[in-house]
Amino acid sequence: MPHRKDEKTRDITELIVKAGEKARRETRAIPEPELTRPIEWPVSCTVGPGLEGAIACETKIGYVNGSKGWLIYRGYDIFELCAYSTFEEVSYLLLHGNLPTKKQLAEYNKKLVDSRNLNNTMRLFMNYPVEGMNAMSALRLGTNLMRHELTYIDREEYKPNLDGVIGSDEDSIPMETKPMGEKDAIYGFKRIKMNRPFKGVNPELHPAAGAESCNHLVSGVATIAAAVARLKLGQLPIEPDPELSHAANFLYMMTGCRPSPVEERIMDVALILHADHGMNASTFASMVVASTLSDMYFSVGAGIAALNGPLHGGANEQVLYMLEEIGNPGNVKKWVKKSVKEKKKIMGFGHRVYKSYDPRARVLAPLAEYLVKKDSSNHNLLETATTLEKEILDTIGTKKKIFPNVDFYSGIVYACMGILPENFTTIFAVSRVAGWTSRILEYLENNRIFRPRAMYTGSFEKEFKPLEKRR
Ligand code: ACO
Repeated sequence: MPHRKDEKTRDITELIVKAGEKARRETRAIPEPELTRPIEWPVSCTVGPGLEGAIACETKIGYVNGSKGWLIYRGYDIFELCAYSTFEEVSYLLLHGNLPTKKQLAEYNKKLVDSRNLNNTMRLFMNYPVEGMNAMSALRLGTNLMRHELTYIDREEYKPNLDGVIGSDEDSIPMETKPMGEKDAIYGFKRIKMNRPFKGVNPELHPAAGAESCNHLVSGVATIAAAVARLKLGQLPIEPDPELSHAANFLYMMTGCRPSPVEERIMDVALILHADHGMNASTFASMVVASTLSDMYFSVGAGIAALNGPLHGGANEQVLYMLEEIGNPGNVKKWVKKSVKEKKKIMGFGHRVYKSYDPRARVLAPLAEYLVKKDSSNHNLLETATTLEKEILDTIGTKKKIFPNVDFYSGIVYACMGILPENFTTIFAVSRVAGWTSRILEYLENNRIFRPRAMYTGSFEKEFKPLEKRR
């Protein structure tokens, strides 16, 4: 059963509680924007480029108050959830709407344990050259392969008749021995005949967009992400340990070592912090795919693809490279001056919604400091980051309302835990899958396909010229 080893990580709880108190003190007086009421469709709102301000749906899952810098999951303040709960409780909360009782948590945990071991997916996954792939691309592939575990495709009763089908080794013989262009040398992607007519999916199987797929993904994306981290280093994936919590298992499956209570707790807090965040780009991308009644796996794959970009979750990896490029605190002023002059985006700063300090950065900054105090090998990295934060706030930050976002300190936290930057964004996905799946389930209750418009600004009535007359 997942539980926090509170005694051994009490100082982490205290850091989070303090960060929450400071946030509330500093933001209490800021007025509440009017974005917390039921709406009647059609709704009027002012929309800016990039759909800024557009209202896509109602939700009870989470709320981001960008002016105050508050983040709420199902009514609970993020600081309290980080201080007192676990990722298992938080993902249950997002998916089900309430914090679990002991019994509900035990049942949910059993589902996560059962879903963590992805034998079939891993067998398929190991056939790909994951070591040479971008980690997010590999994660997306693995998530797509997970589709086979809960749908009819892998079930015995629906197995295709393989008699007469040649194996891949035999298939390569004509490819190697026959000259190119010959009929037999061409791959024949023929549809394999079923051994009996397909009469639809067994109703007892889980629908691919159902609640069981959510549990499967919330648990399994971590297994895949850990396997990706290992395969990229030329190491074999590690089987999960049913006795470990989700956060501890993730670290264990990634590193091969059982984490200390502090490492487990910090990963757990990082997973809680990243689990949901309004209609961000990856959540919206996954919801758009789900709104077509495609399934949960394809939808989560779309979320992973959107999260990968450096303007979104990919920023955490870029922050680390940026800090390494700056080199030390003494170089910060010069670096910022040059970047501002060149109108460069500073990675880990700014946010579409937060026009105040991101509450997630309020938790991650002291955690980074805490880890650096324990082991000073990343002292220079953290000093460079804090100096950069001050310089940005003193120059463009306060004026333009650009503050550190979640990605600014998360990379330093992960680096202190010995995690390579190439895996930072996959960790984000391991957590955000809880938000993606919760919001998809909620949206599907009153689904309407997403279909905005674009304003056509092109020309009309052009004369068509045949190819040979075009210049
Ligand atoms: N560095 C420098 N200037 C910035 C930054 C930044 N990181 N972010 C915003 N600005 C500037 C803009 O250039 C703009 O200036 P202007 O008014 O003089 O033209 C002003 O601040 C307002 O910013 P917008 O462009 O309106 O911000 P937008 O909402 O479009 O973009 C985004 C938000 C993409 C996050 C942006 O701040 C950015 O690129 N940040 C860096 C990448 C990053 O850290 N992404 C992670 C975000 S958190 C997450 O997704 C998990």
